Amino acid sequence: MEQPKRYLITAALPYANGQKHIGHLAGAYLPADIYVRYLKAQKRDVVFVCGSDEHGTAIPIQATKEGTTARAIIDKYHPLMEQNFKDLGIAFDVYHRTSDPLHHETAQEFFTKLNNNGDLEIKESEQYFDEEANSFLADRYIKGTCPNCSFDSAYGDQCERCGKSLSPDELINPVSTLSGKPPVKKSTKHWYLPLNRHEDFLRKWILEAHANDWRSNVLGQCKSWIDGGLQPRAVTRDLDWGVKVPVADAEGKVLYVWFDAPIGYISATKQWAINTGKDWKPYWEDKDTKLVHFIGKDNIVFHCIIFPVMLQLHGNILPDNVPSNEFMNLEGDKMSTSRNWKLDMQDYINDFINKENGGSQMADVLRYYLTQIAPETKDSEFMWKGFQDANNSELVSIFGNFVNRTFVLMHKLCNGKVPAFHQDIADELDQQTITEIKNCANKVTALLEEYRFREALFEVINLARTGNQYMQKKEPWIVAKSLAENPDAQKSIDNCLHICLQLTANLAILIQPFLPFTAKKMCHMMKVVEKMLDWENAGSMKLLSVGYSLRAPELLFRKIEDSEIMEQIEKL
Ligand code: 2FM
Ligand code: ZN
Repeated sequence: MEQPKRYLITAALPYANGQKHIGHLAGAYLPADIYVRYLKAQKRDVVFVCGSDEHGTAIPIQATKEGTTARAIIDKYHPLMEQNFKDLGIAFDVYHRTSDPLHHETAQEFFTKLNNNGDLEIKESEQYFDEEANSFLADRYIKGTCPNCSFDSAYGDQCERCGKSLSPDELINPVSTLSGKPPVKKSTKHWYLPLNRHEDFLRKWILEAHANDWRSNVLGQCKSWIDGGLQPRAVTRDLDWGVKVPVADAEGKVLYVWFDAPIGYISATKQWAINTGKDWKPYWEDKDTKLVHFIGKDNIVFHCIIFPVMLQLHGNILPDNVPSNEFMNLEGDKMSTSRNWKLDMQDYINDFINKENGGSQMADVLRYYLTQIAPETKDSEFMWKGFQDANNSELVSIFGNFVNRTFVLMHKLCNGKVPAFHQDIADELDQQTITEIKNCANKVTALLEEYRFREALFEVINLARTGNQYMQKKEPWIVAKSLAENPDAQKSIDNCLHICLQLTANLAILIQPFLPFTAKKMCHMMKVVEKMLDWENAGSMKLLSVGYSLRAPELLFRKIEDSEIMEQIEKL
């Protein structure tokens, strides 16, 4: 297949209403970052956008909880989330925010174009209204008894006990959370996106054209939405927090948060273009752009059905893929902010990264474990014991150990310099190992292209395993004992360490998208510039020149003690 000219990669805009946990990280941000780092190592033209989602009722509701204003909430959480991502090595090209005037203009222009083209419908309907608060009630502001499980505090959009999606009309005995009184019905006017007009397009585009390249969980959800019958969706709300509806007689109305938020990807791209002096338009208008949305599974319908319809009507390109992850549980239970069963990014950063000197290696440990258990095809489970094992028996014992032994032996047996490779005594095991390095590079590339990050990472660790086995069979430290009587002994040592060093350099390239801090440290040890990490070098046996002297080894990973794990489990 021909290569796209450029890439626009998005990661779901997180609500700026509180701390984000590692389930969020594993769902969208980490896989997106791995993919982007890989593309950049390939020297492709790529822009990676994200930012805070600062509208919707989630924000004013949090403000009420914290006894402050919506503005204060977003100004508190936006910078905090931005810093969390940085600390964990998530390298967006721009981290924007939907409260920015640039976004308001962009979202309004988008709405206006659709509205002027007759792509929206206007309808009057009866909605719940709180007479005491003099305000229409968004779904989240209405509580009542769930018709499904009889839970008495279900919200107007969902029951948090049984998980059923609801509409306010389905609630039994509804009350307003603003006044505690039963609401009344009042007529109001709203704009709707008539999804029903686009069923044919969606069927062909998703269920036919992407039947073979989208994940089955994504296709499954789309199919059941489409088969269930698409309805017009309201894209405006009676609310005072959000992007104002840009129409003369729309006082007190804002765009529905799910209408404006994905347009935030476009605003973010515009901001990136302003920051870098580039043109944002081709990234959203030129068919040669590959657009990929990384999201969690609760966002599928918005990114696969609603936003594509909007993009299509507005004259933009459509996403090429929407790799969506399932959920990650924590120690046997669903992660939840309301029940406080979670591990926030900030807590991990406090406990493992900020505490230690050079703690960014611990950012890589989290990246490693989260990728290893990524919920790519089904829900997965974060277990502290599993985290410890992944670190101690894989990163420390396999990857770190191989690199460390290679460096120590090279200093001891080869004067700290890259030894030559002596073709005349090369044996089958050497050849086999060289072939495995090349094969590994090809496999990892193919897997990354298909968004199969877990398997790709497994292949990289497997290469380190291969390195350990190779060294174990060659035993250069034993061969060194026969240096006096065996004329080929030094040559044999040289060959082993030459291969181990080239393998180490390959490991740095292949691990870079997953563990960027580690790759950087390896470059320092090898005394090479980070340019060596360019993907085109993967599989090469000429990465470190013969005779080049390398630095002393540094430990790439440290052991995680039982006490640290116990402490975390107790915190839950
Ligand atoms: O689910 C969420 O956290 C939403 N804030 C995601 C928005 S993604 C995009 F549309 F902006
Ligand atoms: Zn229920």
